[in-house]
Amino acid sequence: MKLRAWLNSNRKVFLDRDLSYLLRNLPGFDKLRGDFREDVFLNKTRLKRLEEIKRLYAEGMPAAYIIYKEEFFGLEFEVNPQVLIPRKETELIVEKAIEIIRDKHLSRVLDLGCGCGNIAISIKKFLKAKVTVFASDLSFNGLRVAKKNLIRHNLDVKLVNSDLLMSFKKKTFDLIVSNPPYVEKRFIRGSLGYEPRLALNAKDKGMFFIKKILKQGYSCLKKDGFIIIEIGYNHKKLLDSFIKELGFYDLLEWIKDYSGHWRGVLLKKNEGRGATRDEE
Ligand SMILES: C[S@@+](CC[C@H](N)C(=O)[O-])C[C@H]1O[C@@H](n2cnc3c(N)ncnc32)[C@H](O)[C@@H]1O
Repeated sequence: MKLRAWLNSNRKVFLDRDLSYLLRNLPGFDKLRGDFREDVFLNKTRLKRLEEIKRLYAEGMPAAYIIYKEEFFGLEFEVNPQVLIPRKETELIVEKAIEIIRDKHLSRVLDLGCGCGNIAISIKKFLKAKVTVFASDLSFNGLRVAKKNLIRHNLDVKLVNSDLLMSFKKKTFDLIVSNPPYVEKRFIRGSLGYEPRLALNAKDKGMFFIKKILKQGYSCLKKDGFIIIEIGYNHKKLLDSFIKELGFYDLLEWIKDYSGHWRGVLLKKNEGRGATRDEE
């Protein structure tokens, strides 16, 4: 069978843009890339692969998991269903991190909950030797994917297996950046169901990890250190009162996403009453 015939009989299954994206990016279809030839003959292996892709796509699997990669901050990252697919709004968190590292000449940075390593790797790629970057995750599967991406981009980022900040000493970092799990269970449906629960779900209206990171982060930050954290679209008000309640961060800036939702915050450690892990 020729590719043209297969496409004609399956066009209804795919959105046009998804189909050309999938075909351009499928591993094993290299020869079809570039000048895309519809008159190419599909051998058994290719036909089987296309049928498999059709099945996964029709079931609702995100394209990134079908082709095992996603673009983030202009870089390509390997992903698989054991890590979250990097999102556009997280690029805004990375932009803010790069800006603050440059402006304040920060040198030690942690990406907490690194998943495939997209935040840590983007920061390191753009700032190179100016910054020492750590990336941590509770998930060994995540760390394995992050390692592959580090090799792919030929960068030195220190990978650490840690439950939140438990593996880190006091006053270690100038900046902690995190896109933690913050989705309430009731919102995990549709294509989110393909992504790891561990990467998405948080109790306490989605605020569980955000609160923990702010509490534990205080003691791991150096004097005048910073935290940048991504939040859910409905978290601003809750977080605002939590920050006031804690009293040991100055709120510097809220970060808005492309749809106009408040999706992140930049905080600076102050000399307020400092929490330690022991107090939790
Ligand atoms: C929302 S994902 C973010 C992934 C990636 N940083 C990104 O921005 O696309 C949250 C990450 O936190 C990790 N995680 C969940 N619970 C954790 C914990 N207790 N300690 C450390 N990491 C945790 C998950 O494995 C997941 O990789």
